[in-house]
Amino acid sequence: MKQTEAAVITNEEIMPGVYLIRLDCPDITSQARPGQFVMARCGEGPEYQLRRPLSIHQIDGNKLSLLFNVVGRGTRWLSECPAGEKLDLLGVLGNGYEIYPDSRNLLLAAGGIGIAPLVFLAGEAIRRGKDVTLLLGVATAGQLYPSKLLPAGVRLVTATEDGSGGEKGMITDLLPDFINGADQVFACGPLPMYRNMAQIAELKDNPVQISLEVRMGCGLGVCYGCTVKTRNGLRQVCKDGPIFNLDDVLWDKLADI
Ligand SMILES: Cc1cc2nc3c(=O)[nH]c(=O)nc-3n(C[C@H](O)[C@H](O)[C@H](O)COP(=O)(O)OP(=O)(O)OC[C@H]3O[C@@H](n4cnc5c(N)ncnc54)[C@H](O)[C@@H]3O)c2cc1C
Ligand code: FES
Repeated sequence: MKQTEAAVITNEEIMPGVYLIRLDCPDITSQARPGQFVMARCGEGPEYQLRRPLSIHQIDGNKLSLLFNVVGRGTRWLSECPAGEKLDLLGVLGNGYEIYPDSRNLLLAAGGIGIAPLVFLAGEAIRRGKDVTLLLGVATAGQLYPSKLLPAGVRLVTATEDGSGGEKGMITDLLPDFINGADQVFACGPLPMYRNMAQIAELKDNPVQISLEVRMGCGLGVCYGCTVKTRNGLRQVCKDGPIFNLDDVLWDKLADI
């Protein structure tokens, strides 16, 4: 892990309020694994001391992409970063998803902006010769990640809460129909999605690797601000995670962000 300056190549709004920023960053692209993240400084001045954690979305040679939702002043600042600007990153951080060599069929479940780390994972899985089905759930069709940006070979199934695109309903409604035949299940989404997944009986026999997105202070294991309770005791999401087994996290002890 090190601090690096990454030059912005492009920064585009690809869906309402969601930006894809491409950076020239060989220091990170040479080491990153799906599920890992960077801590990005999102502004100048003392009020921006705390960096923001963002998952690695895609890697293409020396180019690193991050996909982010504008939710507050840090991500607003990032959305306004022009091409040529240098971004101050710490990374790569975290443990990453683990694809088992003997797995054949991988099921990926993304809730909203949770698509961010799963596109990198899907690409890596395809590269290793796996079959990948990606379930993507969003509120309404305008929030669906553009399928043309997905790695070739991914089977995409979409759901919208209002029925405007794909199946009508939540991602957790779709999951039970796709679990049979999946050797491994991976997910990224908001806490309510994980809480619902933890209740799905069909998922009990198949360990699910999830990316846990809690508020982080340092991202380096120093501040203990990201500590969560698991069946194996207290864990720091930034160092021990962000990838955990769904069943290991004590969901009723986890506060909403
Ligand atoms: C390991 C990890 C990976 C992440 N990857 C991505 C990603 O790839 N793309 C992306 O858009 N977001 C990602 N997030 C969430 C992202 O870090 C926050 O949205 C961001 O820090 C908000 O900063 P802000 O200054 O814009 O908002 P703030 O002003 O700090 O907060 C605005 C709103 O965002 C919520 N928020 C703040 N921090 C988080 C958080 N960590 N998780 C969820 N909600 C938060 C707050 O509750 C508040 O409602 C990730 C978080 C973690 C821990
Ligand atoms: S964010 Fe500081 S210890 Fe994890």
